Amino acid sequence: MAYSKKDLISTKDLTTEDIYQILNLAKDYKNLNLQNEKKSPLLKGVTVVNSFFENSTRTRTSFEIAAKRLSSDAINFTASNSSTNKGETLIDTIKNIESMQTDIFIMRHSSSGAAQFVASRTPSCVINAGDGCNEHPTQALLDLFTIHEKFGSFNNLTVSIIGDIAHSRVARSNIYAMQTLGIKVKLFGPPQMMQYTKVFGCEICKDMDEAVSGSDAIIMLRIQLERSDDETPFPSIREYCRYFGLSKTRMQKAKENVIILHPGPINRGVELNSDVADDPRISTILSQVENGVAVRMAILDIVYKNLKGL
Ligand code: NCD
Repeated sequence: MAYSKKDLISTKDLTTEDIYQILNLAKDYKNLNLQNEKKSPLLKGVTVVNSFFENSTRTRTSFEIAAKRLSSDAINFTASNSSTNKGETLIDTIKNIESMQTDIFIMRHSSSGAAQFVASRTPSCVINAGDGCNEHPTQALLDLFTIHEKFGSFNNLTVSIIGDIAHSRVARSNIYAMQTLGIKVKLFGPPQMMQYTKVFGCEICKDMDEAVSGSDAIIMLRIQLERSDDETPFPSIREYCRYFGLSKTRMQKAKENVIILHPGPINRGVELNSDVADDPRISTILSQVENGVAVRMAILDIVYKNLKGL
Protein backbone atom coordinates (compact mmCIF):
# COMPACT_ATOMS: atom_id res chain seq x y z
CA MET A 1 0.00 0.00 0.00
CA ALA A 2 1.28 3.44 -0.94
CA TYR A 3 0.50 6.82 0.63
CA SER A 4 -2.76 7.92 -1.00
CA LYS A 5 -3.61 11.39 0.37
CA LYS A 6 -3.40 14.67 -1.56
CA ASP A 7 -1.99 16.37 1.58
CA LEU A 8 0.83 15.80 4.05
CA ILE A 9 -0.21 17.28 7.37
CA SER A 10 1.06 14.95 10.07
CA THR A 11 3.50 12.06 10.44
CA LYS A 12 0.71 10.37 12.42
CA ASP A 13 -0.89 9.66 9.03
CA LEU A 14 2.15 7.75 7.78
CA THR A 15 2.56 3.98 8.02
CA THR A 16 5.98 2.33 7.99
CA GLU A 17 5.46 1.59 4.26
CA ASP A 18 4.58 5.24 3.57
CA ILE A 19 7.75 6.41 5.30
CA TYR A 20 9.91 4.00 3.28
CA GLN A 21 8.11 5.02 0.08
CA ILE A 22 9.04 8.66 0.72
CA LEU A 23 12.62 7.92 1.79
CA ASN A 24 13.29 5.56 -1.15
CA LEU A 25 12.02 8.10 -3.66
CA ALA A 26 14.04 10.82 -1.89
CA LYS A 27 17.16 8.70 -2.45
CA ASP A 28 16.55 8.86 -6.23
CA TYR A 29 16.02 12.61 -6.01
CA LYS A 30 19.21 13.04 -3.97
CA ASN A 31 21.09 11.34 -6.81
CA LEU A 32 19.42 13.67 -9.31
CA ASN A 33 20.46 16.65 -7.18
CA LEU A 34 24.09 15.55 -7.51
CA GLN A 35 23.99 15.70 -11.33
CA ASN A 36 24.92 18.76 -13.38
CA GLU A 37 21.39 18.89 -14.80
CA LYS A 38 19.31 18.76 -11.60
CA LYS A 39 15.91 18.73 -13.20
CA SER A 40 12.94 16.39 -13.59
CA PRO A 41 9.99 17.33 -15.86
CA LEU A 42 7.42 15.79 -13.46
CA LEU A 43 5.63 18.99 -12.39
CA LYS A 44 5.93 20.92 -15.67
CA GLY A 45 2.97 23.32 -15.87
CA VAL A 46 2.03 22.80 -12.21
CA THR A 47 1.89 25.88 -9.96
CA VAL A 48 3.27 25.51 -6.43
CA VAL A 49 2.50 28.28 -3.93
CA ASN A 50 4.90 28.64 -1.03
CA SER A 51 2.59 30.25 1.56
CA PHE A 52 4.68 31.26 4.55
CA PHE A 53 2.74 33.17 7.21
CA GLU A 54 5.69 32.78 9.59
CA ASN A 55 9.44 33.37 9.24
CA SER A 56 11.58 30.77 7.58
CA THR A 57 14.87 30.60 5.70
CA ARG A 58 15.71 26.91 5.23
CA THR A 59 12.28 25.39 4.81
CA ARG A 60 11.00 28.03 2.39
CA THR A 61 14.12 27.96 0.22
CA SER A 62 14.23 24.17 0.34
CA PHE A 63 10.63 23.85 -0.88
CA GLU A 64 11.21 26.45 -3.58
CA ILE A 65 14.28 24.64 -4.87
CA ALA A 66 12.46 21.28 -4.68
CA ALA A 67 9.48 22.64 -6.63
CA LYS A 68 11.75 24.20 -9.29
CA ARG A 69 13.86 21.04 -9.68
CA LEU A 70 10.61 19.27 -10.55
CA SER A 71 10.01 21.95 -13.24
CA SER A 72 6.94 23.51 -11.59
CA ASP A 73 6.24 27.23 -11.46
CA ALA A 74 6.95 28.07 -7.82
CA ILE A 75 5.81 31.34 -6.32
CA ASN A 76 6.34 32.68 -2.82
CA PHE A 77 4.22 34.77 -0.59
CA THR A 78 5.04 35.65 2.97
CA ALA A 79 3.04 37.01 5.90
CA SER A 80 4.62 40.45 5.65
CA ASN A 81 3.40 40.98 2.09
CA SER A 82 0.07 39.12 2.22
CA SER A 83 -3.40 40.62 2.58
CA THR A 84 -4.08 38.69 5.78
CA ASN A 85 -2.35 41.76 7.23
CA LYS A 86 -5.29 43.80 5.89
CA GLY A 87 -7.85 41.67 7.69
CA GLU A 88 -8.49 39.02 5.04
CA THR A 89 -9.17 35.55 6.46
CA LEU A 90 -6.75 32.72 5.78
CA ILE A 91 -9.31 30.79 3.73
CA ASP A 92 -10.20 33.88 1.65
CA THR A 93 -6.52 34.39 0.89
CA ILE A 94 -6.15 30.73 -0.14
CA LYS A 95 -9.36 30.77 -2.23
CA ASN A 96 -8.23 33.89 -4.07
CA ILE A 97 -4.85 32.42 -4.94
CA GLU A 98 -6.47 29.15 -5.93
CA SER A 99 -8.71 31.01 -8.41
CA MET A 100 -5.56 31.60 -10.44
CA GLN A 101 -5.52 27.81 -11.08
CA THR A 102 -2.73 26.93 -8.69
CA ASP A 103 -2.20 23.30 -7.64
CA ILE A 104 -0.13 22.88 -4.50
CA PHE A 105 0.08 24.93 -1.30
CA ILE A 106 3.10 24.65 0.99
CA MET A 107 1.83 26.12 4.27
CA ARG A 108 3.66 27.51 7.26
CA HIS A 109 1.55 29.18 9.92
CA SER A 110 1.92 30.08 13.60
CA SER A 111 -1.44 28.45 14.48
CA SER A 112 -1.52 24.75 15.28
CA GLY A 113 -4.01 23.08 12.94
CA ALA A 114 -3.77 25.74 10.19
CA ALA A 115 -2.54 23.30 7.52
CA GLN A 116 -5.33 20.80 8.25
CA PHE A 117 -7.87 23.63 8.30
CA VAL A 118 -6.86 24.71 4.80
CA ALA A 119 -6.41 21.15 3.47
CA SER A 120 -9.98 20.23 4.29
CA ARG A 121 -11.29 23.34 2.50
CA THR A 122 -9.36 23.24 -0.74
CA PRO A 123 -9.17 20.78 -3.63
CA SER A 124 -5.43 21.62 -3.94
CA CYS A 125 -2.64 19.64 -2.31
CA VAL A 126 -1.49 21.03 1.04
CA ILE A 127 1.91 20.24 2.55
CA ASN A 128 2.40 21.29 6.15
CA ALA A 129 5.68 23.20 6.48
CA GLY A 130 5.15 23.81 10.21
CA ASP A 131 1.97 24.75 12.08
CA GLY A 132 2.51 26.38 15.47
CA CYS A 133 3.73 23.90 18.09
CA ASN A 134 1.94 21.08 16.31
CA GLU A 135 3.85 19.41 13.49
CA HIS A 136 6.57 19.76 10.89
CA PRO A 137 6.37 16.47 8.99
CA THR A 138 8.88 17.23 6.22
CA GLN A 139 11.52 18.12 8.83
CA ALA A 140 10.97 14.77 10.58
CA LEU A 141 11.22 12.93 7.26
CA LEU A 142 14.48 14.64 6.35
CA ASP A 143 15.82 13.84 9.82
CA LEU A 144 14.85 10.19 9.29
CA PHE A 145 16.47 10.20 5.84
CA THR A 146 19.70 11.53 7.38
CA ILE A 147 19.63 8.93 10.19
CA HIS A 148 18.93 6.10 7.72
CA GLU A 149 21.72 7.29 5.45
CA LYS A 150 24.17 7.06 8.34
CA PHE A 151 23.07 3.74 9.89
CA GLY A 152 21.63 1.92 6.84
CA SER A 153 18.53 0.86 8.78
CA PHE A 154 16.23 1.89 11.61
CA ASN A 155 16.67 -1.38 13.51
CA ASN A 156 17.65 -1.13 17.18
CA LEU A 157 18.16 2.62 17.07
CA THR A 158 17.77 5.02 19.99
CA VAL A 159 17.27 8.74 19.34
CA SER A 160 17.42 11.48 21.98
CA ILE A 161 15.59 14.75 21.49
CA ILE A 162 16.92 17.48 23.77
CA GLY A 163 15.64 20.99 24.49
CA ASP A 164 12.31 22.77 24.21
CA ILE A 165 10.19 19.67 23.55
CA ALA A 166 6.92 21.27 24.69
CA HIS A 167 6.94 23.93 21.95
CA SER A 168 8.60 21.89 19.23
CA ARG A 169 6.70 20.74 16.15
CA VAL A 170 9.93 19.08 15.00
CA ALA A 171 9.91 16.94 18.15
CA ARG A 172 6.26 15.96 17.72
CA SER A 173 6.57 14.92 14.08
CA ASN A 174 9.75 12.99 14.84
CA ILE A 175 8.27 11.23 17.87
CA TYR A 176 5.19 10.03 15.93
CA ALA A 177 7.21 8.78 12.95
CA MET A 178 9.91 7.18 15.10
CA GLN A 179 7.34 5.37 17.21
CA THR A 180 5.76 4.02 14.00
CA LEU A 181 9.19 2.77 12.90
CA GLY A 182 9.97 1.18 16.30
CA ILE A 183 12.81 3.59 17.09
CA LYS A 184 13.30 4.20 20.82
CA VAL A 185 12.96 7.91 21.66
CA LYS A 186 14.37 9.58 24.78
CA LEU A 187 13.45 13.15 25.73
CA PHE A 188 15.26 15.68 27.89
CA GLY A 189 14.87 19.38 28.62
CA PRO A 190 14.22 21.85 31.44
CA PRO A 191 10.94 21.11 33.28
CA GLN A 192 9.24 24.25 31.91
CA MET A 193 9.95 22.97 28.37
CA MET A 194 8.83 19.41 29.10
CA GLN A 195 5.21 20.13 30.08
CA TYR A 196 2.64 17.70 28.69
CA THR A 197 5.35 15.53 27.11
CA LYS A 198 4.57 12.42 29.19
CA VAL A 199 1.66 11.71 26.81
CA PHE A 200 4.13 10.72 24.10
CA GLY A 201 5.13 7.66 26.12
CA CYS A 202 8.86 8.26 25.51
CA GLU A 203 11.58 7.75 28.10
CA ILE A 204 12.14 11.01 30.00
CA CYS A 205 15.78 11.52 31.06
CA LYS A 206 16.85 13.08 34.35
CA ASP A 207 20.07 14.70 33.19
CA MET A 208 22.25 15.35 30.18
CA ASP A 209 24.48 12.31 30.77
CA GLU A 210 21.48 10.04 30.68
CA ALA A 211 20.11 11.81 27.59
CA VAL A 212 23.38 11.53 25.70
CA SER A 213 24.46 8.00 26.64
CA GLY A 214 23.39 5.01 24.57
CA SER A 215 21.84 7.05 21.77
CA ASP A 216 22.70 6.64 18.11
CA ALA A 217 21.40 10.07 17.14
CA ILE A 218 20.75 13.22 19.15
CA ILE A 219 18.41 15.93 17.90
CA MET A 220 19.10 19.28 19.55
CA LEU A 221 16.33 21.89 19.60
CA ARG A 222 16.26 25.67 19.76
CA ILE A 223 14.36 27.42 22.58
CA GLN A 224 11.12 28.39 20.78
CA LEU A 225 10.68 31.80 22.41
CA GLU A 226 8.17 32.83 19.74
CA ARG A 227 5.90 29.93 20.72
CA SER A 228 6.21 30.31 24.49
CA ASP A 229 3.70 32.19 26.65
CA ASP A 230 6.50 33.01 29.00
CA GLU A 231 8.95 35.71 27.90
CA THR A 232 11.67 34.27 30.14
CA PRO A 233 11.17 30.51 29.97
CA PHE A 234 14.62 30.03 31.39
CA PRO A 235 16.24 32.35 33.94
CA SER A 236 19.66 32.46 32.35
CA ILE A 237 21.08 31.43 29.00
CA ARG A 238 24.38 30.56 30.72
CA GLU A 239 22.58 28.04 32.90
CA TYR A 240 20.62 26.67 29.96
CA CYS A 241 23.88 26.11 28.12
CA ARG A 242 25.46 24.47 31.16
CA TYR A 243 22.67 22.00 31.91
CA PHE A 244 20.92 21.49 28.57
CA GLY A 245 23.45 22.55 25.94
CA LEU A 246 25.64 20.13 24.01
CA SER A 247 29.41 20.50 23.78
CA LYS A 248 32.25 18.03 23.21
CA THR A 249 32.76 17.89 26.99
CA ARG A 250 29.11 16.95 27.54
CA MET A 251 29.46 14.16 24.97
CA GLN A 252 31.88 12.03 26.97
CA LYS A 253 29.16 9.46 27.70
CA ALA A 254 27.97 9.38 24.08
CA LYS A 255 28.43 6.44 21.72
CA GLU A 256 31.51 6.53 19.49
CA ASN A 257 29.53 6.83 16.23
CA VAL A 258 26.71 9.10 17.46
CA ILE A 259 25.40 11.78 15.10
CA ILE A 260 24.07 15.19 16.10
CA LEU A 261 21.11 16.70 14.27
CA HIS A 262 19.55 20.15 14.52
CA PRO A 263 16.70 21.51 12.39
CA GLY A 264 18.23 25.01 12.40
CA PRO A 265 18.43 27.85 13.05
CA ILE A 266 21.13 27.07 15.63
CA ASN A 267 21.67 29.39 18.55
CA ARG A 268 25.40 28.82 18.92
CA GLY A 269 26.59 28.64 22.49
CA VAL A 270 23.03 28.12 23.77
CA GLU A 271 21.77 24.64 22.82
CA LEU A 272 24.80 23.72 20.75
CA ASN A 273 28.48 24.59 20.95
CA SER A 274 30.50 25.27 17.84
CA ASP A 275 32.91 22.41 18.67
CA VAL A 276 30.02 20.00 18.02
CA ALA A 277 28.07 21.94 15.38
CA ASP A 278 31.09 22.39 13.12
CA ASP A 279 32.62 18.91 13.45
CA PRO A 280 31.68 17.11 10.21
CA ARG A 281 32.41 13.70 11.81
CA ILE A 282 29.46 14.05 14.16
CA SER A 283 27.30 16.97 13.02
CA THR A 284 24.86 16.18 10.19
CA ILE A 285 23.33 19.66 10.14
CA LEU A 286 24.34 20.53 6.57
CA SER A 287 23.49 17.03 5.31
CA GLN A 288 20.02 17.51 6.77
CA VAL A 289 19.65 20.70 4.74
CA GLU A 290 20.91 18.93 1.60
CA ASN A 291 18.58 15.96 2.17
CA GLY A 292 15.65 18.28 2.82
CA VAL A 293 15.44 19.22 -0.88
CA ALA A 294 15.33 15.56 -1.98
CA VAL A 295 12.76 14.61 0.66
CA ARG A 296 10.53 17.55 -0.34
CA MET A 297 10.84 16.62 -4.03
CA ALA A 298 9.66 13.11 -3.10
CA ILE A 299 6.69 14.48 -1.14
CA LEU A 300 5.68 16.89 -3.93
CA ASP A 301 5.90 13.99 -6.39
CA ILE A 302 3.72 11.69 -4.25
CA VAL A 303 0.97 14.13 -3.23
CA TYR A 304 0.61 15.56 -6.74
CA LYS A 305 0.27 12.07 -8.26
CA ASN A 306 -2.31 11.26 -5.56
CA LEU A 307 -4.27 14.43 -6.42
CA LYS A 308 -4.36 13.56 -10.11
CA GLY A 309 -4.87 9.84 -9.58
CA LEU A 310 -1.62 9.09 -11.45
C1 NCD B 1 12.23 24.53 12.86
C2 NCD B 1 10.86 25.16 12.81
O1 NCD B 1 10.66 26.19 12.20
O2 NCD B 1 10.00 24.57 13.42
N1 NCD B 1 13.14 24.96 11.90
C3 NCD B 1 13.05 24.59 10.60
O3 NCD B 1 12.00 24.35 10.05
N2 NCD B 1 14.23 24.46 9.93
C4 NCD B 1 12.79 24.59 14.21
C5 NCD B 1 13.09 25.94 14.77
O4 NCD B 1 12.60 26.96 14.30
O5 NCD B 1 13.82 25.97 15.77
